[in-house]
Amino acid sequence: MKVTVVGAGAVGASCAEYIAIKDFASEVVLVDIKEGFAEGKAMDLMQTASLNGFDTKITGTTGDYSKTAGSDIAVITSGIPRKPGMTREELIGINAGIVKSVAASLVKESPNVILIVVSNPMDTMTYLAHKVTGLPKNRIIGMGGALDSARFKYRLAEALEAPISDVDGMVIGGHSDKGMVPLTRLATRNSVPVSEFISDDRLTQVKEDTKVGGATLTKLLGTSAWYAPGAAVSGLVQAIACDQKKIFPCSTLLDGEYGLSDLCIGVPVVLGKNGIEKIVEINLDDAEKAHLAESAEGVKKTNGLLEL
Ligand code: 2OP
Repeated sequence: MKVTVVGAGAVGASCAEYIAIKDFASEVVLVDIKEGFAEGKAMDLMQTASLNGFDTKITGTTGDYSKTAGSDIAVITSGIPRKPGMTREELIGINAGIVKSVAASLVKESPNVILIVVSNPMDTMTYLAHKVTGLPKNRIIGMGGALDSARFKYRLAEALEAPISDVDGMVIGGHSDKGMVPLTRLATRNSVPVSEFISDDRLTQVKEDTKVGGATLTKLLGTSAWYAPGAAVSGLVQAIACDQKKIFPCSTLLDGEYGLSDLCIGVPVVLGKNGIEKIVEINLDDAEKAHLAESAEGVKKTNGLLEL
């Protein structure tokens, strides 16, 4: 199993590190445009192998895509991250050009690749990757929902004063401060609806804290987060590489599901060796449906800024 990670910045390197630590891939290739940067990160990570007990081989290249040839999965993290106060949507100008050329170069070297898009604005970049590569829709996956759901579970556990392993919950919709739809109604603590334990007001607070999860970290760190994004990507990569058939909310091209079409947005999907093997349509209540429809409007508005 060969995995390429484009962008050796904080998110890309963290992805490579978590993939290696889980030790299911034979090879991870890091790519960056900054001379020597990916090679350096790869060497540093390889020097953790004996300490962390993995055999995954990590190599780096400065923009030589021939080194990525034959990749089964490729992760696109390249582009500029958010600065405090910026929305993900504001990154579109620079990141669209980068994602376009990266996606085309990856597919040229690895025609059977499954692409995972992380660059922001993520739902729009996932849609762009479709337009540029023409890959079948099961082979293009946007990473947002897995991260947003992890942040949701963190906030739920905090509110419930419970260990995170007791908590389950999912965020669908766009990967943006306004677009996220944390499904509080369906969140559980050990199969019991969380509403049995905390008030509606506290649950509303959890929802709001989840939606600004990325922005909160950007303010604290001065740039966007990397540990949770990297871990979320590694979870998707592992589900595909190990054919786990796990459900994650991911951004995928919709064609009528949830009453939406011609956009990529986060909905639950089954991930296995073919990438997105199924879009799972769950019953939403009227408020959740309205929130998802509003979120889709926002994503479509950002898609409208693309020069296709
Ligand atoms: C975040 O929410 C990177 O968009 C990403 O942290």
